[in-house]
Amino acid sequence: MRILEILENTGGEISSSSLCYISLSASGELSFNGRKRSLLLLPPGQREELRPGEAALVLPPGSSPSGGSLSAGGVFLSVVPSPDRPFPLLLPEEGGFLAVSQQIEYLRPFRAAILTVSDRGSRGEREDTSGPALARMVRLLGAGEILRETVPDEIDRITGVLLRWSDAGGVNLILTTGGTGFSRRDITPEALEKVGERSVPGIGEAMRLASLKITQRAILSRSNAVLRKESLIISLPGSEKAAVECFCAVAPALRHGLEILCGWSGECAALFIEGRESLWRMKTGE
Ligand code: MTE
Repeated sequence: MRILEILENTGGEISSSSLCYISLSASGELSFNGRKRSLLLLPPGQREELRPGEAALVLPPGSSPSGGSLSAGGVFLSVVPSPDRPFPLLLPEEGGFLAVSQQIEYLRPFRAAILTVSDRGSRGEREDTSGPALARMVRLLGAGEILRETVPDEIDRITGVLLRWSDAGGVNLILTTGGTGFSRRDITPEALEKVGERSVPGIGEAMRLASLKITQRAILSRSNAVLRKESLIISLPGSEKAAVECFCAVAPALRHGLEILCGWSGECAALFIEGRESLWRMKTGE
């Protein structure tokens, strides 16, 4: 869908513009073209509803979501109920420019969870920075609720949480961080193998391929990925740096994979074109 209108109420006067800049201030407040504003999602034909200090995006009739998130270019907005208005609020996760008639994509929210696997973390002796960093990134794929837990490097403890999240919790994307290396206690990939119904080798391969450009030690991570029911489970290394680098290597394709896994999208047209282009590049040796 495309953005129909960008509106702003500046002191009683409602103006429309073709371009706006949205950002999140250090104090967490949304600014719209450099001014503090509440940003609403307004249905078409309701511009008079806009109050002073409010701005709004207008989407085509019948396509205004009441939850989930909106993504356009680099801009990422969560759609949340407004406490005092009948129209949903838009909260920026990533800011940038938006323009009238720009394509904006609605992302249905999925359930996500992050499991930190660390003996020291589970005893409270090590601060977990990887879990919070991964949570921020998963949000940008359109995750709604994000569960978090920490367990020691014990296979039964790891599989216990994975089974609970996958089977009873209906969690669609589970990331684990830690325990993928060579230490005698590192057992996370084996825990994934134990609960997985199908393996996804491309995810581990892509993470190591991308990571090798950063460090030769990339090959020391045994990170893997499996599918169980409607859950994609991915193991990532333990340090924040390594976990984020590995996640970034696979993140662009994950949303599409999750939509297929959850049965929300049977459309592989874009993927098909990408696949053909890369095949062609290989054939011509470019
Ligand atoms: N991958 C990336 N992208 N960046 C890194 O810094 N560190 C490696 C490897 N993969 C690293 C990486 C190192 S040093 C180790 S020991 C393994 O991940 C395993 O990490 P883990 O035992 O914390 O899971």
